[in-house]
Amino acid sequence: MASTTVTSEFTLEKERKELLEAVQCRLNFAIISHPDAGKTTLTEKLLLYGGAIQQAGAVKARGEQRKVTSDWMELEKQRGISITSTVLQFDYSSSKINLLDTPGHQDFSEDTYRTLSAADNAVMLEDAAKGLEPQTRKLFEVCRMRKIPIFTFINKMDRPGREPLELLDEIESELGLIPWAVNWPIGSGDEFRGVIDRRDRSVTLFEKGERGRQAEESHLQEGDPELSKRVELRLLNKALEELDLLEIAGAELNMDLVHSGEITPVFFGSAMTNFGVRSFLDAFLELAQKPMGRISSGELVDPLSSEFSGFIFKLQANMDPRHRDRVAFMRICSGRFEKNMSVRHARTGKLIRLSRPQKLFGQEREVVDEAYAGDVIGLNNPGMFAIGDTLYTGSKIEYEGIPCFSPEIFSHLRNPNPSTFKSFNKGVNELREEGAVQVLYDTDPSKRDPILAAVGQLQIEVVQYRLEHEYGVQTYLEPLGYTVARWVIGGWSILEKTGRIFNCKTVRDSWGRPVLLFKNEWNLNQLKEEHPEIEICSVAPVVSGLDPIRS
Ligand code: G4P
Repeated sequence: MASTTVTSEFTLEKERKELLEAVQCRLNFAIISHPDAGKTTLTEKLLLYGGAIQQAGAVKARGEQRKVTSDWMELEKQRGISITSTVLQFDYSSSKINLLDTPGHQDFSEDTYRTLSAADNAVMLEDAAKGLEPQTRKLFEVCRMRKIPIFTFINKMDRPGREPLELLDEIESELGLIPWAVNWPIGSGDEFRGVIDRRDRSVTLFEKGERGRQAEESHLQEGDPELSKRVELRLLNKALEELDLLEIAGAELNMDLVHSGEITPVFFGSAMTNFGVRSFLDAFLELAQKPMGRISSGELVDPLSSEFSGFIFKLQANMDPRHRDRVAFMRICSGRFEKNMSVRHARTGKLIRLSRPQKLFGQEREVVDEAYAGDVIGLNNPGMFAIGDTLYTGSKIEYEGIPCFSPEIFSHLRNPNPSTFKSFNKGVNELREEGAVQVLYDTDPSKRDPILAAVGQLQIEVVQYRLEHEYGVQTYLEPLGYTVARWVIGGWSILEKTGRIFNCKTVRDSWGRPVLLFKNEWNLNQLKEEHPEIEICSVAPVVSGLDPIRS
């Protein structure tokens, strides 16, 4: 008996050690940037280091391939925008890295929010000549909502750019984020000579390689006489003076503040010439936040818990139109995930066997045998998963849901062709489940056409485009002149008690709950003044244990 206890304790200890090792070497992040800042280029260089791709140009090439294999990505090509997001997993040094790619257009900030809800770190990429740009600011706000650590990479130092001190000031004054430069540039543009590492004062010199595309990096110490032979004194002195200024100004690199998203470590480099990318990756791996625990019913679930848990943060249908597949992206939060394991679906209470879980690399799939906290895997979704769903083993875990953004654009979606009624409903339901758009309905049951509600116009266009190309249904829109939506906390009974409300339209959401639509903020304020008894909120409350009404 005693020996059995000792053996099981030994096994438990061994399992815990294995889990600890597996979680400690995992890391995930998303890159946020304005289009053209160099996200594709940086991603590609990171993947090259990870050995995930063998040649430069492969990510773009994959992008091209992707564009021809998926219908709605054709729209991305036509419009020159990036709508979809993918997950790229690669190994580097002894780390297993999950890079969560986010859509590059502000109309899809809700999708970005969902992706960021699965990320433990963000890399904010800036173009040195442009500094903060509109899309970066918006995406930053999304990161701030989640309080995740943000690492800044100031790119294109090989081109004339703005003064580095000015770029740091801008981050601090406009985002309220304290920058802490990890390295400091010597010159910029044609006079860019390299960077000084602030932590040990080592210098990495930049020399343009062939056709200006690939840089040579060489390393020296600050006092090395070789340095003054290779770098103009004027440039070196300026960089050293600026570094002294930073030291006097003085914030310290407090890792608690980095991890709570208050201090951003800043790196200067050039993704295109591959300068400073490896040192960025090395420092990032050292400083980044390891897989975080999540809150379930007010309690933090330890990523090292022996029980498995994870949540669905993204659904995507028809990634590969040849197979009409539906993929649910799951972020693993605790325990060990194994292929074919049976897990409990928190919302419905059903037991589900997870066969054929996939590791994703853009469009490519590979079956995974095991995964741990911090990893993202793709699950086959026959329609049972919704965004925010928790899966677990052991005692019940239900992670906090992912809130929807408040829509600002509303349009009736009409289907003029009754013979496509079934496909129309299927398409609308599936796209709503994916979170591509929110769907509202008239309170009058005879008016069955859905009202599409979105944060940005492009979202609605993508839905129409996908309905046509994936479900074979042509539709037209009738825009409604509303710009503000509010959910009624007390439900229908409170509205019945209130009676008629002027200057707003009452509709129901996909869960049958009342939503008020207003033409403008002024009408909204009017309601607040005239009916203080109606409690309202701007985002749809997260629904648990309930299935939505289908069209
Ligand atoms: P994105 O995904 O953020 O939209 O940006 P992407 O990587 O596609 O880069 C946008 C442009 O900026 C590309 O040029 C790219 O080569 C260039 N770029 C990226 N990093 C650097 C850098 O460190 N220095 C310089 N000088 N340029 C950089 P393009 O002309 O649009 O494309 P291509 O000619 O490279 O194919």
